[in-house]
Amino acid sequence: MSNIKIDFKSVYYPSPIVLVGAMVDDRPNYMTAAWFTKVHNTPPMIAVSLGSGHFTVKGIRANKTFSINIPEALIIEKTDYCGLVSGKRVDKSDLFTPFYGQTDSAPMISESMISMECTVSEIVSLPQDDLVIGTVVETYANEKYVSGECIDPHKAVPFCYVSQEKKYFGLGRALGAARSIGKKLIQK
Ligand SMILES: Cc1cc2nc3c(=O)[nH]c(=O)nc-3n(C[C@H](O)[C@H](O)[C@H](O)COP(=O)(O)O)c2cc1C
Repeated sequence: MSNIKIDFKSVYYPSPIVLVGAMVDDRPNYMTAAWFTKVHNTPPMIAVSLGSGHFTVKGIRANKTFSINIPEALIIEKTDYCGLVSGKRVDKSDLFTPFYGQTDSAPMISESMISMECTVSEIVSLPQDDLVIGTVVETYANEKYVSGECIDPHKAVPFCYVSQEKKYFGLGRALGAARSIGKKLIQK
């Protein structure tokens, strides 16, 4: 068995899926993004790579604020829709119930599982995309999905995106204990 060369775009990598919220031309706009990750804990920071021509990016650049919203399965159709149509042509402001934090210009989505209010820390211009690095001002969880201080996997149904299959998947069974299962390989 050998390792074969494949196209970078074919890399099989289930990714998180988020809705990026921004105020554009005085109305909330939301777009779907798979190229998202946490990048720093203290201060809390995230990064998301967005096509520089997207309507949402116009608002992020203008206000220097935006939100990251992690959807739950109940809003899977609307999440997909926000990735199919642009705010340039369609008004997406009424899709969700917005709420605001300290900045007043980062519309967050009440129906999502988690929402993060962000300020722009830096925008790195890539050949086709803008890598937006954000500092998280505040993080909110939808009470409906919380037990104690955490999202309860028995209450919420998170999902991820597999581009190669053009599908959203829920979480499968746990395969092992993180930061633990590998300990048996540590040399004594
Ligand atoms: C599942 C999915 C994932 C997507 N991921 C990204 C992404 O990571 N970055 C990006 O720029 N666009 C991504 N898109 C495309 C944008 O969401 C789409 O072009 C959207 O219409 C832009 O909206 P706007 O012009 O209102 O900002 C994705 C679309 C879908 C359906």
